[in-house]
Amino acid sequence: MMTMSKLKFADPYHENRIEDYFFFRWKLLRQPWGQPKGTERDDQEENSIQRMIVDEDGNIIACGRFHLNSPHEAQIRYMAVDTGQRGKGIGKMMMEELESLAISAGVKTIVLQARENALEFYLACGYTKVKETFLLYNDIQHYLMIKKI
Ligand SMILES: CC(C)(COP(=O)(O)OP(=O)(O)OC[C@H]1O[C@@H](n2cnc3c(N)ncnc32)[C@H](O)[C@@H]1OP(=O)(O)O)[C@@H](O)C(=O)NCCC(=O)NCCS
Repeated sequence: MMTMSKLKFADPYHENRIEDYFFFRWKLLRQPWGQPKGTERDDQEENSIQRMIVDEDGNIIACGRFHLNSPHEAQIRYMAVDTGQRGKGIGKMMMEELESLAISAGVKTIVLQARENALEFYLACGYTKVKETFLLYNDIQHYLMIKKI
């Protein structure tokens, strides 16, 4: 388990690093499938709570976001941890941070669309698989998952 001593959570808008943050998101979640820049964003960015984890040198090593689907339901999207930093508890720390921020916002339920490769991760974070949903880029099967917080 990674400690936070040399890592910190930050809001990319507050830090004036939103373009670096979107680039990180694109590199991890879009570029490997040949998708152009811009496809890593949607129309909820400015209505969302955004968080990144930065290392002691200021490198972004993780990202995640949630927006509200209704006053009591949040949806987490765009979760990613840098390839060389996986398996150290960083993804789980990001989920706990987003959940804690969601609780403060009055959220009771979190939903997400899990990529098949991340199913075990979300199960380990306490989410339940509801159903198979869509296939992204003809390749990545997604599953609706839910957690009461
Ligand atoms: C999914 C992802 C965010 C997980 O981040 P991570 O930092 O590697 O995960 P953690 O180290 O915090 O793991 C937390 C728990 O999930 C489990 N876990 C994580 N990845 C797993 C995997 N591929 N298979 C099985 N278990 C896994 C860990 O064993 C750990 O369990 P524990 O708490 O019982 O010890 C990361 O692998 C990633 O960025 N993947 C590519 C992008 C992606 O698919 N994002 C999800 C989009 S829906």
